[in-house]
Amino acid sequence: MDNKVKTIAILTGGGDAPGLNAVIRAVVRTALGRGLAVWGIKNGFGGMVENKMIQLTDESVAGILPRGGTMLGTTNRDNPFSYPQTEAGEIVYKDMSAHALDNLRQAGIEALVVIGGDGTLKIAAEFYQMGLPVVAVPKTIDNDIPDTERTFGFDTAVGVATDALDRLHTTAESHHRVMVLEVMGRYAGWIALHAGLAGGADCILIPEIPFNTESVIAKIKERQLRGRQFSLIVIAEGAYAQGGEISIARIVEGSHEKVRLGGIGEKLARQIEALTGMESRCTVLGHVQRGGTPTAFDRVLSTRYGVAAAQCILEGAFGIMVALQKNQIIRVPIVDIAGKANNVTIDNELLIAGRAIGICFGD
Ligand code: F6P
Repeated sequence: MDNKVKTIAILTGGGDAPGLNAVIRAVVRTALGRGLAVWGIKNGFGGMVENKMIQLTDESVAGILPRGGTMLGTTNRDNPFSYPQTEAGEIVYKDMSAHALDNLRQAGIEALVVIGGDGTLKIAAEFYQMGLPVVAVPKTIDNDIPDTERTFGFDTAVGVATDALDRLHTTAESHHRVMVLEVMGRYAGWIALHAGLAGGADCILIPEIPFNTESVIAKIKERQLRGRQFSLIVIAEGAYAQGGEISIARIVEGSHEKVRLGGIGEKLARQIEALTGMESRCTVLGHVQRGGTPTAFDRVLSTRYGVAAAQCILEGAFGIMVALQKNQIIRVPIVDIAGKANNVTIDNELLIAGRAIGICFGD
């Protein structure tokens, strides 16, 4: 063995994404193969505070590769640095990070693999700065983590959204309607951009390009003039009209990121109907994008990430996030990730390709 670590733990945090189980399986198999003991922390960082852990064996990860969700459970609420405690019938938020670290120490856990999105990775970076040897794996359907070209889960979400567009296409065409599909992605337009291109959308509206409703209407009318009596629009949940505001669906107290987006698709559909007279409907795809079996691409990427994370531990390389660049798995410092975002830029090649084939981006 290359270093002294003998016992590690794995934790999944934030919203679930297809491929989580594939990462867990790859870490467990690689680590067990090199003689390490592996524990799974239940339900994200909450399980670290509450000391909820299970030992993981070859048997425990058998058959999980194609399964969606996470066998360890997850949450996008529990932050050990501001953890809810009940005192005299009131909820108060306390720093339980030292207690959480102590739980790991008591169990003999010397290093932690954290699989999560930006909120989870921020907490992982804080623990690393407190001295916990951490290796992170970038997870999210939104693909909004910096320094990696792909997060696992994204490909599956794009596939689901593309399938939805194909299905909406037939209804749009048959009923001469405008069909609007609202997809997830938070403040990044990656899912909308990829699915819109793959599903033949006429308009793709993303948070990075505030849209002009008149441009969208002009596109629909231009199609009508060419005999196309229907249009297909994909809109990211974080998209907003020029001079307008982002649509907030709900506030989730206790979550790292409290704001939940949603509602812009329905607003746009109502406006289109009023301004064109064409029947317009909105479909909100929601959590369907996150659930179910990962695509082959996500299974492969998750496996590569899991093996690479275990390899970091074996080599004693900590404070690292494994990442994908130019189809190679690389290592980036986890502290570099905090506070940065990965958004669609105006010179993005897919955006330029979309414009070349006549897609309207609302500007
Ligand atoms: O980050 C993944 C994601 O699915 C976003 O696309 C979406 O905005 C958010 O999580 C939804 O969170 P929740 O599951 O808490 O509603």
